[in-house]
Amino acid sequence: MLLEVKHLKKRFGNQVVLDDININVDRGEVLCIIGQSGSGKTVLFRHIIGLLFPDGGEIRLDGQVVSTPTTKPADFDRHRKRFGILFQGAALFDSMNVGENLAFPLREHTTLTTKDINKTIGEALEMVGLKEEFKAKMPSELSGGMRSRVGLARAIVMKPEIMLYDEPTSALDPIMTDKINDLIISLKDRLNMTSIVISHDIGSAYKVADKIAMIHEGKIIFNGPSAEIRWSRNLYVQQFLRGYRERFYAFDQEDKYSGQADISKIKPGRPSRKGGAQQEQNAPLSVPIDIANKKFEMPARPR
Ligand SMILES: Nc1ncnc2c1ncn2[C@@H]1O[C@H](COP(=O)(O)OP(=O)(O)OP(=O)(O)O)[C@@H](O)[C@H]1O
Ligand SMILES: [Mg+2]
Repeated sequence: MLLEVKHLKKRFGNQVVLDDININVDRGEVLCIIGQSGSGKTVLFRHIIGLLFPDGGEIRLDGQVVSTPTTKPADFDRHRKRFGILFQGAALFDSMNVGENLAFPLREHTTLTTKDINKTIGEALEMVGLKEEFKAKMPSELSGGMRSRVGLARAIVMKPEIMLYDEPTSALDPIMTDKINDLIISLKDRLNMTSIVISHDIGSAYKVADKIAMIHEGKIIFNGPSAEIRWSRNLYVQQFLRGYRERFYAFDQEDKYSGQADISKIKPGRPSRKGGAQQEQNAPLSVPIDIANKKFEMPARPR
């Protein structure tokens, strides 16, 4: 197994944020970690890349223990370069143009010649669907989606073994979201890249993931093949999926079902994805009953 998280525990003060987390990902797999806001996704992410260390449990890479409660940040340094990281908002260096942003990690961490650096940058830009001319652009001249692509290109120039994404699509429109999702899939197909994608968008998770782990209040409440999550009997999993299902039926496929969907009526009852799950439990069902009872068909995976 390439990466294993075992019995991971973390608390901040009195608050237990991660409570016995167990997940793993093998080479070439895409694991999506989903969950509501505040459930502990980013804290888990920061443990995996060695920016935080656990209070209990451990993380292994290729079977070797790399993170425990006694690991020092400096001990983790040699493992960190195995990861490519895409933070939300891409975190580009604003004073450097795109080419310099991409060259930066190569200059810092490799002995490549300028010629080879340029070649690698060209390949990375091509892989994320940007033309070479983009090298001269400043980050401030780019749209959010373009910044994400450049961030992704910068992460892959180092040819990482594992790509980690924290909410790569949360600030993007649906079309750009699809493009970033396609890129995650093409990295897997072209480079057999292993990826861990944090998301609160179940639609993206269905699209890109081989496996899904759902985290709720610091505990894993579903962990398995993405096709199986809809069979989970866990209340919170179902509520999370229902939030998506209602959006899916009420808007995307509105014309397929009898009766007009009155969006002004639907909105107030929609479970807020950020709201407390307990409160949602008693919320009135906000779609017509014939729609609510239909078995949910997952969108087809584009592969
Ligand atoms: N450095 C910290 N110190 C104290 N508490 C923290 C720290 N980092 C995170 N937390 C707390 O841990 C909990 C989980 O936060 P986390 O950022 O992992 O949520 P998340 O699942 O990523 O949410 P979102 O979807 O909004 O990004 C929150 O209650 C947060 O306040
Ligand atoms: Mg987060």
